[in-house]
Amino acid sequence: MLEVKELTVCYDTAMLLNEVSMEVHRGELVSLIGPNGAGKTTLMRTISGLVLWEKQMKRGTRAGNITITGEVYFQGRRIDQLPPHQIARMGLVLCPERRRPFSELTVEENLGAGAYLVRHRRRYQDTLELVYRTFPVLKKRSRQISATLSGGEQQMLAIGRALMTRPLLLCIDEPSTGLSPLIKQELFARIKEINESGITMLLVEQDVNLTLAMSTRSYILSHSKIVARGDRNELLADETIRRSYLGL
Ligand SMILES: Nc1ncnc2c1ncn2[C@@H]1O[C@H](COP(=O)(O)OP(=O)(O)OP(=O)(O)O)[C@@H](O)[C@H]1O
Ligand SMILES: [Mg+2]
Repeated sequence: MLEVKELTVCYDTAMLLNEVSMEVHRGELVSLIGPNGAGKTTLMRTISGLVLWEKQMKRGTRAGNITITGEVYFQGRRIDQLPPHQIARMGLVLCPERRRPFSELTVEENLGAGAYLVRHRRRYQDTLELVYRTFPVLKKRSRQISATLSGGEQQMLAIGRALMTRPLLLCIDEPSTGLSPLIKQELFARIKEINESGITMLLVEQDVNLTLAMSTRSYILSHSKIVARGDRNELLADETIRRSYLGL
């Protein structure tokens, strides 16, 4: 479904991604693990077209020079030259790090804002029910102003809003940041359910144990490079990987 080939991204002289290659197959939940500053968010932003968009916005300014090389394919079609909205329209949807809902809108208005294409609006009621089934707390709070939701509820709303677009591949960047262990487990269980309902996923997470346990396969990104790949057993079997990158 997704194929990334030797993707390199530089901001001026800083190399944020160094010949990163990876793939995600239909139905998988693939995770991306790695320390702060490794380039995980940059990889997600590049795949969804945001880095190219940023490059085009900043062209000719003092903000610096962004270079992107390599190729990204989604469902067999090359997407690395496409704008973010077109990539999203194809079904590759990013739920970014520390995303906040439109705070002055209610929960249901926020979900409605996720269904922005005509084809989303046609299936609006069905999709809304699906989101409410996944996150019953959102239904309970449907008329509540989003700014007053708890951190965990806001994160569920962010994922719910992404689901309103009926994604084929849902990329979620660090959904559990700032959540208590209990809420985090609850959120991860929901993420796993969403995957099992047929939505392919690419997940960035810091919690190595939980993430390895729920993923089909994982990639470890360190200092802009993929340094290891495999399923839980393969990664844990390697002592160096376990100690150096997983902290286990
Ligand atoms: N727009 C930008 N301009 C310049 N440097 C950037 C930009 N965005 C990110 N970087 C740098 O690129 C490196 C990788 O950042 P990135 O956000 O991709 O890391 P990350 O793996 O997501 O980290 P974290 O786990 O902390 O979220 C960092 O050193 C960061 O400072
Ligand atoms: Mg990040």
